[in-house]
Amino acid sequence: MSRSVLVTGGNRGIGLAIARAFAEAGDKVAITYRSGEPPAGFLAVKCDVTEPEQVEQAYKEIEEKQGAVEVLIANAGVTRDQLLMRMSEEDFSTVLDTNLTGTFRVVKRANRAMLRARKGRIVLISSVVGLLGSAGQANYAASKAGLVGFARSLARELGSRNITVNVVAPGFVDTDMTRALSDEQREGIVKQVPLGRYGQAEEIAASVRFLASDEAAYITGAVIPIDGGLGMGH
Ligand SMILES: NC(=O)c1ccc[n+]([C@@H]2O[C@H](COP(=O)([O-])OP(=O)(O)OC[C@H]3O[C@@H](n4cnc5c(N)ncnc54)[C@H](OP(=O)(O)O)[C@@H]3O)[C@@H](O)[C@H]2O)c1
Repeated sequence: MSRSVLVTGGNRGIGLAIARAFAEAGDKVAITYRSGEPPAGFLAVKCDVTEPEQVEQAYKEIEEKQGAVEVLIANAGVTRDQLLMRMSEEDFSTVLDTNLTGTFRVVKRANRAMLRARKGRIVLISSVVGLLGSAGQANYAASKAGLVGFARSLARELGSRNITVNVVAPGFVDTDMTRALSDEQREGIVKQVPLGRYGQAEEIAASVRFLASDEAAYITGAVIPIDGGLGMGH
């Protein structure tokens, strides 16, 4: 396979593992990054998903250099954890603007060419937290739950055009995002996971790649939990 794939936030963590999984399968992979040196081996485009002009510019560059995006993985995401009483308007809006509205921006722009091609694969990276809730993460959980309604609406809207839209809901995965937690928090989380460990980014990437494969052609509007059993299928 040599499709044109875009992974937002593909410069590190889960996004980088996803980018590598597609590249290993022979696809052409573009990744976004915001600063620093992006990893080698991909078409790296500078793009902050909270900036509509940067999203447009990134798509133009990708279309020019590797063709219209056929597989989009909306992975870019942030946390700004805080109990509700202390959560600022900015903590809330930054997380929503990145995780939910940022996903809207990249999906909307990808959809243009997918509609024309009458095919496409879209995978959104949500979280077990969007479905279970988490004290101190009301902003993050709202953004990740929002992705489920967004994806399911699009699955209905775009199904007749052979475009599938699915959600992956990882549990706790060993990346910079979870390394920011205290040892005590990390131990507390592991105790609740039936498989008794954190997930690896590659374990998320494998399911994402499957959802974009021919074998998954009849799957749309699904939410796939990859969480060591933490959400018990939710
Ligand atoms: N780790 C987990 O346990 C876990 C569990 C469930 C879901 N997830 C989700 O999985 C996704 C990846 O998480 P991760 O653990 O790999 O996190 P991470 O290591 O913190 O990486 C986050 C990625 O998102 C990018 N990003 C953040 N804000 C962005 C913006 N405004 N525009 C463009 N890119 C932006 C970052 O780019 P920069 O390098 O430029 O900052 C980085 O590539 C996120 O959506 C996260 O919510 C993670």
